[in-house]
Amino acid sequence: MPETIHVTVNGACIAVPSGATALAAILSTGASAVRRSVSGGPRGPLCGMGVCFECRATVNRRRYARTCQILCSPGMDISTDVSDEPPDYV
Ligand code: FES
Repeated sequence: MPETIHVTVNGACIAVPSGATALAAILSTGASAVRRSVSGGPRGPLCGMGVCFECRATVNRRRYARTCQILCSPGMDISTDVSDEPPDYV
């Protein structure tokens, strides 16, 4: 049985199996979008192997991290960018 660790996704503490990716933690909350495109459309993971960059989110205050390539660690803070606010880079 895998060890369980706790991480925070958008301010909510959740339990994930040790070895889960940050993307898996995000998706386990029921979210399907991880970020917004430049035009504001919701974007979600596509490849799951580090190629498409569609899974970018903020991990431990590091923006644009490819969450499919990052393993969760205890206390990790993960934030998606899917608020209704317009993106700050437009
Ligand atoms: S899902 Fe494609 S890079 Fe993460």
